[in-house]
Amino acid sequence: MKRREFIGEACKFAVLCSAPLALSTLQSCSDVENENTDFVSDDDFIDVNKNFIEFNLNQAPFDKLKEINGSIATNGNDFDSKGLLLFRQSENSILAFSRRCPHAGASLDAFNNGSSRCTSHGSEFNLSGTPTRGPAKSNLVQYKVEINEDTIKVSK
Ligand code: FES
Repeated sequence: MKRREFIGEACKFAVLCSAPLALSTLQSCSDVENENTDFVSDDDFIDVNKNFIEFNLNQAPFDKLKEINGSIATNGNDFDSKGLLLFRQSENSILAFSRRCPHAGASLDAFNNGSSRCTSHGSEFNLSGTPTRGPAKSNLVQYKVEINEDTIKVSK
């Protein structure tokens, strides 16, 4: 076998060997995204407009927020076109951030173990909305939250 033929065959072998690994990696990335994110649609809110969102913790998609450390992500809506990241921090505190990644605008996953991840380029954010892993360099947009028994109002 000539040198050129050998190199060609070696390259084909390398591509064939790496394809299953690449497919498996892509599959596991999409599984992680689905596992960590519970999407909430407009119909689940009491009210949603440009200034605020209101919802009831007793309604199914929000019941995760009744437990401390529970987190959900909403779909985009009139209040925030990328949707919200919500996290139950304590009995009296729920955190609300935009799901828009400050790096290039992709959607973030709900918080998992105190961290929200952007599946686009891998940035991660802590519960203060601060990036703990790049490439993002700026904080998430954070919203105000009022808790009135089971009714939650998120505003700008
Ligand atoms: S868009 Fe989120 S890390 Fe790039």
